[in-house]
Amino acid sequence: MSKSKRNLRSAQWFGTNDKNGFMYRSWMKNQGIPEHQFAGKPIIGICNTWSELTPCNAHLREIAERVKQGVYEAGGLPVEFPVFSNGESNLRPTAMLTRNLASMDVEEAIRGNPIDGVVLLVGCDKTTPALLMGAASCDVPAIVVSGGPMLNGKHHGKDVGSGTLVWQMHEKLKTGEISLNEFLSAESSMSRSAGSCNTMGTASTMACMAESLGTSLPHNAAIPAVDSRRYVLAHLSGMRIVDMVEEDLRLSKILTREAFINAIRTNAAIGGSTNAVIHLKAIAQRIGVSLNLDDWQTYGKNVPTLVNLLPSGKYLMEEFYYSGGLPAVLRRLGEQGLLEKNALTANGRSIWENVETAACHNDDVIRTVENPLIKNGGICILRGNLAPRGAVLKPSAASPHLMKHRGRAVVFNNFDDYKARVDDEALDIDETCIMVMKNCGPKGYPGMAEVGNMGLPAKILKKGVKDMVRISDARMSGTAFGTVVLHVAPEAMEFGPLAAVQNGDMISLDAENGVLHLEVSDEEIASRIEELKKQQPFIKTGGYLELYRKHVLQADEGCDFDFLVGCRGADVPAHSH
Ligand code: FES
Repeated sequence: MSKSKRNLRSAQWFGTNDKNGFMYRSWMKNQGIPEHQFAGKPIIGICNTWSELTPCNAHLREIAERVKQGVYEAGGLPVEFPVFSNGESNLRPTAMLTRNLASMDVEEAIRGNPIDGVVLLVGCDKTTPALLMGAASCDVPAIVVSGGPMLNGKHHGKDVGSGTLVWQMHEKLKTGEISLNEFLSAESSMSRSAGSCNTMGTASTMACMAESLGTSLPHNAAIPAVDSRRYVLAHLSGMRIVDMVEEDLRLSKILTREAFINAIRTNAAIGGSTNAVIHLKAIAQRIGVSLNLDDWQTYGKNVPTLVNLLPSGKYLMEEFYYSGGLPAVLRRLGEQGLLEKNALTANGRSIWENVETAACHNDDVIRTVENPLIKNGGICILRGNLAPRGAVLKPSAASPHLMKHRGRAVVFNNFDDYKARVDDEALDIDETCIMVMKNCGPKGYPGMAEVGNMGLPAKILKKGVKDMVRISDARMSGTAFGTVVLHVAPEAMEFGPLAAVQNGDMISLDAENGVLHLEVSDEEIASRIEELKKQQPFIKTGGYLELYRKHVLQADEGCDFDFLVGCRGADVPAHSH
């Protein structure tokens, strides 16, 4: 039973023998906690996004129990607490709308409570960045434990991936290749165990980001949710956080600029989600690290994609883990000089010390640098008069023949307009056109929904065409694919140039050179925008939405709230009962 050598934060609550100390301890004792547990032991918060409405995180209370065992074993006192759980599959209009809300919940819960260190239990897409953002703003010792991915989906004898199967089968349904019954029969085949999406979607990407940032133990990203080794990792993380408190290993010592550079390169190597661009920026801003879109170009552009997982490749997270998981990828990056090797990680070792002997057991799942899945896999940053503050494209999910393309714009004013007209036989569109959708950005949707991968019109799919260039201020699910330009900033609702695009305008995309150009004069764009400003869009006011619209930053700034940017530390005024 270790007694902390440090001045514990929790001692401000439990360490005095006055009226306040009496009251803090007394109420906690109603849970049956014995006196000695308050005698100088680190108090470890277990920040849990468990919710039955977030199916990907529905098993996290079991994971929390394993974390607790580890905390007790190392001589700490674990206290589990719930925070807002924003699951991707159920929450309307989009879980992104509440990422910042969840981060505020986390930040205030940590700062306001007698917590010396915190274990962040995450899984579904937005829960990972939300908890890291909140904890970063407090800068306490923190370690991430992910829920882990689901087992492979199995449908008609074949492996099928979360999300990606839906996109693929829905297109087949639209072309009449499969019946509605066949489509619906895949539901239970796709999601057949606890855990998050088993493709390299946003959840798996963010789990890899957390591991490459150094905020988790090695292998956290890929161990399947139901694998016994997931419980071992949870147990060991519970033990480790107690030591992190003793060592004062706060997030600011781990989340350095080098750590973010490692995450950018890792995202390229895993074929990760475009959502990581927004989330990493938001986390970096919370801890005070400078990171911008150009860093993705500088550090990520020439990194090969090694991980052969859906949606860029063909395997799923189970194979990724069995083949060596993220440590094997990081070793390959490190051997090519593509890793900031000294970056410190949660176990107290450098990232290179963690991975330098990591084995790869399958060179088709985790490719070698000499035989990559994609030669230059990093997220492509685009700029031009259509996206003065940038836009993103994921080359590993795009079609090579469309990476340089000039086409006629077919414009949808918003997602409802798109849904209403996309399959209209009278829509004037062919496969050389560029589909443009407006008003789906942070303020426009609001919440910047994952609708940027607009499905193609049925009449074009029936011709056997699988991809077209699509442009919007929206995001895209990490499980989706296509030549899809996303995150156009400023967004249309903020009167960015995207708002000015009209049917028939010519647009040119040159991914190699990072250019997105609207072939309309500056004067004409300005005059169209002036016209639009005279129209007052109907905007719902009140409640959280009003706060969101007033304060959300644009995509290139991480979509955080302006007033949440920065690290506010863990100091809190005392209160007297
Ligand atoms: Fe939760 Fe994909 S819906 S991880």
